[in-house]
Amino acid sequence: DRLLLVNGPNLNLLGTREPEIYGSDTLDDVVALVEGAAAARGFAVRAVQSNHEGVLIDAIHAARADCDAVVINPGAFTHTSVALRDALTGVQLPFAEVHISNVHAREPFRHHSYLSDVASCVIVGAGVQGYGFAVDRLATILGR
Ligand code: DQA
Repeated sequence: DRLLLVNGPNLNLLGTREPEIYGSDTLDDVVALVEGAAAARGFAVRAVQSNHEGVLIDAIHAARADCDAVVINPGAFTHTSVALRDALTGVQLPFAEVHISNVHAREPFRHHSYLSDVASCVIVGAGVQGYGFAVDRLATILGR
C-alpha cells in the first residue's frame, strides 16, 4: 500500500520561505512527518515536489499504477489549475488537499480552489501537522 505525496511550486523553499506564514519546518521535515504517519497505518510513501505543473500531472498519472491515494499541497496551482484537477479526477484516486496556512484568512485570490469540491478532505491552516491529519483520514477512508 502506498501514498503519493505531492508538493507544488515553492514548497521546496519551506523553512526559509515566509516562516511567519509557513513555519520553520523544511520540505524534508514534511516528508519525514508523512512517512511516519503513513508507516503507522501501513503505507509506504512516494514523495514528489516540483515547480512545474506538467511534472506534477505526470506524477499523478503514474500513481494510478501503484498508489492507493494522494496527499497534495498544490501551492499556488490550487488557485489556477484546471489541469491538476483533471489529473486527479482522471486517475480516480482519493486525495486529500492540504494547505499549511489558512488560505481563507489571506488574500481573496487564495479563497478559491479548483480541487476542493472533488477532494476527499481539505485541511487548511493546521500547519505542517495537516499533512499527518491527511494521511490519517485517507487511511480511514481506505479502511486501513
Ligand atoms: C499554500 C497556500 C497557497 O495559497 C500558496 O500559494 C502556497 C502554499 C499553503 O500550504 O498554505 O504556495 O498551499
